[in-house]
Amino acid sequence: MTAISTINDVFSLINTELEDIESAYADYLKTNVSLIPKISEHIILSGGKRLRPALLILTMKMLSSRPCSGTAMAAVIEFIHTATLLHDDVVDQADMRRGLTAANMIWGNEASVLVGDFLFSTSFDLAVDQGNLKILKALSSATKRLAEGEILELMKTADTSTTEDDYLAVIEGKTAILMAIACEIGSLLAGADDKKQALMKDFGLNLGMAFQMIDDVLDYTSREEDLGKAIGIDLEEGKLTLPLIYTLQKASEEERQQLQEIILADFVSPENFARVYQLIIKHGGIQFTMNRAHQHIETAKKLLKPLESSIFKESLLFMADYILDRDR
Ligand code: FPP
Ligand code: MG
Repeated sequence: MTAISTINDVFSLINTELEDIESAYADYLKTNVSLIPKISEHIILSGGKRLRPALLILTMKMLSSRPCSGTAMAAVIEFIHTATLLHDDVVDQADMRRGLTAANMIWGNEASVLVGDFLFSTSFDLAVDQGNLKILKALSSATKRLAEGEILELMKTADTSTTEDDYLAVIEGKTAILMAIACEIGSLLAGADDKKQALMKDFGLNLGMAFQMIDDVLDYTSREEDLGKAIGIDLEEGKLTLPLIYTLQKASEEERQQLQEIILADFVSPENFARVYQLIIKHGGIQFTMNRAHQHIETAKKLLKPLESSIFKESLLFMADYILDRDR
């Protein structure tokens, strides 16, 4: 019988560490400027899944043979994630995030961008306190690639010649890199050797690739009530994600023409969304993307094979499967 059978078992295992991180957020965000806690609390306390802090802590605990704390760096990773969401909702003109009105809709774009900047700067301030150049380097190169991923996505907006490789470059930057360094930093804090650091970074990267692929599937298949954000938004924004990229490749000339017109239009009617969805299903775009996500999860799980068995390793393997099965 296995000790980990639900995602709650995983979170219970590291409950003390996760609670420390939750109480550290307010401490780290102390400021006299009242708008900062208002906006940052709105988004940080809105029920994020805390996957990245959990990945960092589980990796650290799996690899550590000495006492160490991941509180500050787990908060840093969550702050960077939050900063990118604040910026992303401005870029995407999003109305909703995690079931709540998006910060940009309540306080405006300027405030959202600037509070994102504050969270981002606070992250680096906290990371410097670790006095570990390897951690700082991991963080700075990752955030650079994060911005690159988002800019590449912007450049590819409504570009129907976008390839699967273009898509992979975008999602590696905008999503996978942050999960990769959550695991890498966990292993650095544990004092693991270079080989294990690289292995864990690769594990996180594969999890992140699968995570974004599932996100892109859910944008077509889920319901607003389950996801806490609007559905069909990628098509509306002219974002070509893998289900659609694959469908464009498989479509007949006539279908392709029709898809192109819908993608280029300013507004996507419910009928047009239904037509795109029908073509995606017809050509297997959802299944193709799910298979790709599955491959990344299998690769990630294989990477952990050489590591000693432990409840933390079991939890990381469970999280890999959870990312694939999630419906929100
Ligand atoms: C969500 O994608 C977006 C991201 C995960 C990354 C956003 C990154 C930036 C805006 C770059 C900012 C950089 C720094 C370093 C502060 P999505 O729009 O597909 O997902 P969603 O549906 O959850 O919005
Ligand atoms: Mg977005």
